[in-house]
Amino acid sequence: METWDAIRARRNVRSYLPDPVPAADLDRIAEAGWRAPSASNRQHWRFIIVTDRDQLLGLSTVWRGAGHIAGAAAAIALVLPQPEDERMKLTDRYDLGQATYAIMLAAADLGIGTGHSSVGEQARAREILGVPDDHDVTYLISVGHPADRPLKPILKPDRLPFDEVVRRDHW
Ligand SMILES: Cc1cc2nc3c(=O)[nH]c(=O)nc-3n(C[C@H](O)[C@H](O)[C@H](O)COP(=O)(O)O)c2cc1C
Repeated sequence: METWDAIRARRNVRSYLPDPVPAADLDRIAEAGWRAPSASNRQHWRFIIVTDRDQLLGLSTVWRGAGHIAGAAAAIALVLPQPEDERMKLTDRYDLGQATYAIMLAAADLGIGTGHSSVGEQARAREILGVPDDHDVTYLISVGHPADRPLKPILKPDRLPFDEVVRRDHW
């Protein structure tokens, strides 16, 4: 897919076909996160690719908005160390947002859907993934082939009016 088409086609996919996503595609999607920029190139993040159905089912219970992970072919857990201070926390989260979007666009480029989920039950998420107590499972990204409709550029996205959001030269 062209970059511009992938940007316009990405959306949160929350229902998936049972088809697996090839390991090479999952690696490429994760590589997009690995290549993402981070402040001072710290790369505090770690990414855990999960395809085991029992783990996916477990992860689908760690947040009220995580249900879509149960039926996904895979999930990528985004893990951060607990921050030293508030500034590092903000920076790490900014970095993770960039990695998230890189992951989602790389998936869209392959016609593969993704969906965010927050994590509420931190202890359960750590246990499922074997993550140590001094790290947080910050977000989850479900990955799989969309069950509802294929990814294609969305002509009228559900967004605030462009001119309300994008200003020129001044507020
Ligand atoms: C930080 C963040 C957290 C999110 N958490 C969830 C979530 O827990 N569950 C969910 O279904 N969607 C979640 N979303 C997806 C948003 O609801 C979605 O991106 C937004 O409604 C725009 O829709 P779109 O991604 O399809 O364009 C999250 C998105 C972001 C950026």
